[in-house]
Amino acid sequence: MKKFKKILIALVILFLILQIPFFQPTKNFTEAEPVNDITTVYDVPKDIQNNLHSACYDCHSNYTKDYPWYSNIQPVSWWLDKHIVEAKKELNFSEFANYSAKRKAKKFKEIAEEMEEKTMPLPSYTLMHKHARLSDAAIKDMIDWARKMYVQVKADSTAF
Ligand code: HEC
Repeated sequence: MKKFKKILIALVILFLILQIPFFQPTKNFTEAEPVNDITTVYDVPKDIQNNLHSACYDCHSNYTKDYPWYSNIQPVSWWLDKHIVEAKKELNFSEFANYSAKRKAKKFKEIAEEMEEKTMPLPSYTLMHKHARLSDAAIKDMIDWARKMYVQVKADSTAF
């Protein structure tokens, strides 16, 4: 019992130390203008834009808006930060204009696939963020849009 108490106290101390701001990952937000946003190269319909913003941009852009209160608590903040870093590596709507035509096409294809399989937005995210739960109609619109964009980028490009 004594040992158990010691371990518990050690864990509490560790937890408290982790709350020091030094251990907080930097927040994913920049004051810079989104000059390479997808909307600077493509005419994204307004409703699609809105849905991308409410369901995807928290992870797939340089502008995470909706940090929940628990995002300041360790180790949750690391866990959230890992998602954002990995999500941006795969697809960053704020950097979309910089992608090669081949990568752009690939990303549109993947968006349609992920939405079709309902693997995006991450279920752990929609559980906590109501604004990210898209209706079936909105999901279908996004799939149709991504498919159309895939065909358009391929047709426009001689790169592949
Ligand atoms: C909570 C964070 C989060 C949100 C919100 C989110 N994603 Fe993701 N997304 C990720 C992570 C993490 C990865 C990389 C790992 C993986 O594929 O699971 C990813 C990967 C992807 C990929 C690449 C998949 C592949 O084939 O490699 C696409 C495309 C994608 N997301 C589209 C979307 C779209 C579209 C939305 C909005 C409808 C969205 N995501 C919302 C976290 C998120």
